[in-house]
Amino acid sequence: MDLGLADRTVLVTGGSSGVGLATVRALLDEGARVATCGRDGERLAKAAARLGAGPDRLFTATCDVRDGDAVRRFTDAAAAHFGGPVDGLVNNAGQSRMKRLDDTTAEDWRDELELKFTGVLNPLAAARRYLRASDAASVVNVNAVLAKQPETRLITTSAARAGILNLSKSLAHELAAEGIRVNSVCLGLIDTGQWTRRHAAADSGLGYEDWQAELAADRGIALGRLGRADEVAYAVVALLSPRASYITGTSIDVCGGVGRGIL
Ligand SMILES: NC(=O)c1ccc[n+]([C@@H]2O[C@H](COP(=O)([O-])OP(=O)(O)OC[C@H]3O[C@@H](n4cnc5c(N)ncnc54)[C@H](OP(=O)(O)O)[C@@H]3O)[C@@H](O)[C@H]2O)c1
Repeated sequence: MDLGLADRTVLVTGGSSGVGLATVRALLDEGARVATCGRDGERLAKAAARLGAGPDRLFTATCDVRDGDAVRRFTDAAAAHFGGPVDGLVNNAGQSRMKRLDDTTAEDWRDELELKFTGVLNPLAAARRYLRASDAASVVNVNAVLAKQPETRLITTSAARAGILNLSKSLAHELAAEGIRVNSVCLGLIDTGQWTRRHAAADSGLGYEDWQAELAADRGIALGRLGRADEVAYAVVALLSPRASYITGTSIDVCGGVGRGIL
């Protein structure tokens, strides 16, 4: 099926690694023009080299999504680079915070809430006028099943994620009149840099594969393994597609069946 993304312009935050990088790759494969950012310019340059797309297809710039002015500069530069409207925005940049209630400082709470909310609101504010100019504008917020199934070991991230899921619903209603759809993908455990870093920090004596298998069993993942970034990218790209024109205000879980909740 032709997803109708050829020559569409899509912004992806945090495209130098993991889910963001896989999403950029999937969009390039669909013939889209992609602009992406991250904080570490070297990491971004390495990712761009691996993607192998020319400047007519791929635009990169360093930018921290918490900095509204920097996000505006990135967005304006990307829009000017490609010309025309922006058809898609993927709010992906971020990370989670492994903390329980009693290890969490007031600063941790502030930082986590700031990252999660500015990570959606800054790119949206910057891209909104370009999205409005598209005939098929779509925003996808990369979220986590933690939004619906909180974990005490990730207490700040779970609470922030629930807020973002709630915000996504409001945005879908608020922006529908401007022709902008807003949806979420809620991730379970996806094998990216986040988990290789945790494996190294855990120092469990287990190899990465065995550690992952133990983790999957411990967390009750029905499919018995962590997901791959490209499996998330598939859902993101489907929601970005103009063919998803009647889908807004909803979320897709990409989680291998973790948990037993119905919603
Ligand atoms: N992997 C999972 O199991 C999982 C589960 C649930 C939700 N998620 C969410 O999915 C998203 C992608 O995660 P991932 O696993 O793919 O992580 P990852 O491999 O660590 O990649 C994160 C990307 O975001 C960028 N980034 C981080 N903070 C940023 C900031 N403040 N401003 C701009 N860019 C920033 C990183 O580049 P720089 O570091 O250079 O900035 C990198 O490109 C995150 O929002 C994460 O919380 C992941």
